[in-house]
Formats: sequence, structure tokens, C-alpha cells
Amino acid sequence: MNIRVFRTPSDAGIYAASMVERVITSSERPVIGLATGETVLPVYDALVNLVRCGLDVSHVTTLNLDEYVGLSPNHPQSYHWFMREHLFSRIGTPMQATHLPNGVAPDLEAECERYNDLIRNHPIDIQLLGIGVNGHIGFNEPSHTLITGTHVVNLTPETINMNARFFSRKDDVPRQAITMGIQSILQAKQIMLLAFGEHKADIIYEALKDGIRTDVPASMLQLHKDVTVILDSHSAARLGL
Ligand code: F6R
Repeated sequence: MNIRVFRTPSDAGIYAASMVERVITSSERPVIGLATGETVLPVYDALVNLVRCGLDVSHVTTLNLDEYVGLSPNHPQSYHWFMREHLFSRIGTPMQATHLPNGVAPDLEAECERYNDLIRNHPIDIQLLGIGVNGHIGFNEPSHTLITGTHVVNLTPETINMNARFFSRKDDVPRQAITMGIQSILQAKQIMLLAFGEHKADIIYEALKDGIRTDVPASMLQLHKDVTVILDSHSAARLGL
């Protein structure tokens, strides 16, 4: 694993965006795996800057990791909305195609299959990941068993509490999500895991330095041959670098 520690999330975001740029400019049909959440915002800011400075993204396909069950794409807390707000609408040229799971599909099992087919037909060149304080990647929550493909997941109380900061009432926080599975994530050719802040220091240590454990889903990344971990000094504090 290549671990890089930056002074600020903004410096880290510029580095991550330049890794994405390299993939975009070196492939005819690049497929980029995207994430939502606070951590990836500096990456999207830096990508938008690159596009404003001439990076062509018109041939790019994107696949997001997850979406809440029960929130329509027009719900301000949906991940569809997040992606439009923080990336898609800020990039002048539309990308070739952007995909997220549909959290209001009438048949969620069929929706998971549709998303698995999409991933099969669009192998991901580089996958962007944040990490939950409980070690989740996508919404693959800590458990005795991890699921390989796209599936509906019951969010843990810890994740629901963390997500509550974005909702006006805790009762409004969705209890379920559709997420890409662990195998789909590990099949990406390249992976970038980002984490910033003191509150991520313990889980970064467990994910990278302890053994592989299903109750720390991010530790599965130790099995992948091309992972870059992008941190700030706070999240890297326990690594002894
Ligand atoms: C979001 C996602 C989650 C987040 C994680 C960290 O699409 O897949 O795994 O990356 O919950 O969230 P933040 O960045 O808000 O700390």
C-alpha cells in the first residue's frame, strides 16, 4: 500500500484529483468509481478546477458506491443530489454517463442486479473511497460476513448517528442503503482511500495495520494490489510514519 500524508485535506484533494486525471487522460473510456461524504469534497473541488483548466471529461463514465433506500434523486439528502451539487453540475461538459443505485426502485433486488450488471459492463479503473468511523467502505458495514455484490444493507446505529448531522430530524435518517459489495470494490483496478481528521485515526490504524477482519470492512483493502491511502497528519497519527 502506498500511504501519502498531506498537510491539509485540500492538498490531499489536489493529489487525489491528479490521480483521477491520469486515469482520465490515459484511457479511451475511463470508468471512475465515486463516493459521497465530507471526505471527498476537496477531491471534487480539485477535479472541477482541473476541468475548468481544460481537462476533458466528456468520455468519462462514473459509478457511485451507494444510495439511501427511500430517498428519491430529488431529495436534498440523496446521494444523487449530492453528486449533482458537488460535482456533476459544476463540470461544464457533461460526462458520458453517471450512475448511482436507485434508492426508490420498486424492486430493490432487481435494482441490485441491474447495478451488478452495470459494474460488470463497466469495469472500474479507479475507485474513490472514504471510510466510516466504524470501518465501513461504501455501506459495507461491520459484520460476521461481508457480501460480495450490490445489496440492500441495514445501516448500523453508529452510521445512522453519523449521518444524522445532515438531516433536520434523526427520524428522517434512512435506515437502509443500496451499496456496491466488497468484491465489486476490490475488482477496481486502482483504489484510493481517503480519510481526514483525528476521529478517523483509530479506524485507519485498524484498517491498515491490524489483520483482515470482517468487522473492519476497510481492512479487506489489504488484499488489493494497487491501493493509495491519502491522509492528513491527524488521521495518520497512529501509523507511526
Ligand atoms: C459514501 C460512502 C461512505 C463514506 C463514509 C465516510 O458514499 O460510501 O462510506 O465514504 O461514511 O463519510 P465522510 O466522508 O462523510 O466521513
